[in-house]
Amino acid sequence: MKTRLIRVDPLHPEAGAIAEAAALVRQGQLVAFPTETVYGLGTNALDAAAVRRIFEAKGRPANDPLIVHLAGAEWLSRVVASVPPEVGILATRFWPGPLTLILPRNAAVPSEVTAGLPTVAVRVPAHPVALALLRASDLPIAAPSANRFGGVSPTTAEHVWQDLAGRIACILDAGPTPIGVESTVLDLSTRPPRILRPGGTPREALEAVLGPVAVWEGASGGGAQPSPGLLAKHYAPRARLILVLGGEAEALTARVVDIARTLSAQGERVGVLLTDEDARRVEAQLPGVSLLALGSQTDLTEIARNLYAALRQLDAQGITAIVTRDFGSHGLGLAIRDRLRRAASEVVTLSPEP
Ligand code: TXA
Ligand code: MG
Repeated sequence: MKTRLIRVDPLHPEAGAIAEAAALVRQGQLVAFPTETVYGLGTNALDAAAVRRIFEAKGRPANDPLIVHLAGAEWLSRVVASVPPEVGILATRFWPGPLTLILPRNAAVPSEVTAGLPTVAVRVPAHPVALALLRASDLPIAAPSANRFGGVSPTTAEHVWQDLAGRIACILDAGPTPIGVESTVLDLSTRPPRILRPGGTPREALEAVLGPVAVWEGASGGGAQPSPGLLAKHYAPRARLILVLGGEAEALTARVVDIARTLSAQGERVGVLLTDEDARRVEAQLPGVSLLALGSQTDLTEIARNLYAALRQLDAQGITAIVTRDFGSHGLGLAIRDRLRRAASEVVTLSPEP
């Protein structure tokens, strides 16, 4: 299949380009498009055969359910059976935006979308291109991140091209995505509500509206797994990634430097990811190491925005080992920690976990 790459203006997408992509969605073809978080790989969420194409193109196992994207909360009734009372305030406060809600599905949603679960994941993306595509196709769009399964999510159209060219009909290229990590997935069926995947909407922002919100701790937390897609090693670069956590920033950074120097001395091609401030401080100690600065330690949104592109850049350089540290749990820190943990082949814990 020949993949078309169509450039669109991120703020004022051209109507012709959107109409072309929307026609493909209506035909059940696969269209990669930008959201505010990462690029998605979308098609008609109500067409089972179309949805199966997503799983084929990504090499994604069928037991990993998809997020359905809507143009607004007024589309909820197209895919959801009943709407719990908190949804009104959450939608007003956070949509469009990086918040995915797990709600009871209705009969219009093929079981391919939900991996047979009685619930469906829904969100309204805050990107003019995604919203224009949803409105022009007038269909709910099922879309996972537009990468091969298990790999690093794409934050640019080039990333999508590297992973999926020849396997999908079209890529809408609107430049880099502004948030850079995926949406927060929130389950409202439990008391308190529970974050299944930390993401672009911080826990603190949800708690300001809902009161206490739990965070599902993963397999190590002991509880049953709420969704298959949440467990497997995921978001991983080709290089093995070593994550240092459980201590103050300075101690973590010192250990990162230690490990990087040791591996480098053993002949490995080593990449290191740190904050701008860390990087300036330790640069001279890391000759021959690819040191990338992700952003200021005072701005976790910048670190989140740059993280996936940095992982892909180190892979492209042929790095064999990436060493990085935890950046705390405030705001987007929790999402960054979650992705690094799942990308990691090895976690080095300095003191009992934070
Ligand atoms: O920001 C995002 O969420 C991006 C953009 C494209 O919207 N999408 C994305 O999709 O990250 P994906 O497929 O890579 O991740 C979907 C997550 C998975 O962790 C999946 O297990 C969870 O949502 N999920 C989907 N349906 C679910 C359900 N019914 N119950 C629990 N978790 C569900
Ligand atoms: Mg994904």
